[in-house]
Amino acid sequence: MNTQNLIRLTATDALGEYKKLTVRPVQGKTAYFQAEKYKNNQVFHTNFEDFDAFFATEIEGKFKQISIFYEGKTVLLSRGGNGEYRKKETKNDLKAQNQSHDREKRYLLEEGEEVPALVDLGVFTKDYKIVKAKYDKYKQINRFLELVDDAFRETGETSLTILDFECGKSYLTFILYYYFTFKKGISVKVIGYDLKKDVVERCNEIAKSYGYSSLEFVVADVTKDVLYEEKIDMIVTLHACDTATDYALAYAVEKGAKYIFSVPCCQHEVNLSIHQGGDMDIFFRYGIVKERVSALLTDSVRAMLLEDAGYRVDMIEFVDFEHSPKNIMIRGRKEKVPSRRNEREIEKLVETYGFKQKLYELLKQ
Ligand SMILES: C[S@@+](CC[C@H](N)C(=O)[O-])C[C@H]1O[C@@H](n2cnc3c(N)ncnc32)[C@H](O)[C@@H]1O
Repeated sequence: MNTQNLIRLTATDALGEYKKLTVRPVQGKTAYFQAEKYKNNQVFHTNFEDFDAFFATEIEGKFKQISIFYEGKTVLLSRGGNGEYRKKETKNDLKAQNQSHDREKRYLLEEGEEVPALVDLGVFTKDYKIVKAKYDKYKQINRFLELVDDAFRETGETSLTILDFECGKSYLTFILYYYFTFKKGISVKVIGYDLKKDVVERCNEIAKSYGYSSLEFVVADVTKDVLYEEKIDMIVTLHACDTATDYALAYAVEKGAKYIFSVPCCQHEVNLSIHQGGDMDIFFRYGIVKERVSALLTDSVRAMLLEDAGYRVDMIEFVDFEHSPKNIMIRGRKEKVPSRRNEREIEKLVETYGFKQKLYELLKQ
């Protein structure tokens, strides 16, 4: 089938499992198509490259009406009683837009989506509108999800064990569970850790009441308690306090977790211990600059240590700076052989400026 100038395809009047299906082309680094399949108020996403094969297996014979929108023309396919599709073409005024994946600010978790656990957690109202006071959190979590989604667009994972360090009220933990289980069809075991017993108990109650059987919350001090000891695939942290991020990253390295998504929070250690002594002294002369440079230095050292541990690492702006100065995500994927490439550079920095950095300390042990 011709896919040149294709804008989108919509299939309705279902004969099969899905109520509706849409397809749109996406121009990423390599071009591909993205399908959304609707079933029981849930949407399932699939990415694929071979349009004809997808059409033959997922669309043809499964919907009575198929509308294919190209720039300037629409092709309508209507299935008759004999199973054959009648074809009709009409003109349209549509123009293909920039079809990069991020072309529109669409949240992965849309307002109105029926996620009852989010009502219990106080993020959505009873009619699934965002609670105003929770809008910032909703935005952060959607952004987190977007960055996770990016990494999982082309992986063939079918099951994952995920640990959330310092999960707090656990909006992110619930949403990750929901996203992988219901949107990606990946079976997950998710464990959230926090110090607060009452919050952990409440989260367990909510998870239980929706039958989220492999979502669990545990009271633990992530800086010293023994955590999950079996194989893990992914760790997440969202604003885990100070060195807790380092304990989470060290845990990921030690357990060989394949995926890391970590948004650090307040970082005191380097700021409190660093002194002047080298070419960068200008950055340590004024309090506010010292504080910010120390935070950036902390994250850079963390990223370099993860690289040496065999991770491909990128650092991404998480939310706008004015929204939160704690706005960097360290994203890692284990796919390299560990090396000592950055070791000397870090040692030299530590020798020169005398700072303490927990992940450095933990991985040296
Ligand atoms: C800033 S909140 C972040 C919560 C959540 N990740 C979010 O972004 O909404 C930090 C949480 O860490 C918990 N916490 C602090 N120190 C901890 C520790 N050593 N071990 C486990 N949890 C801890 C606190 O109880 C609090 O809920």
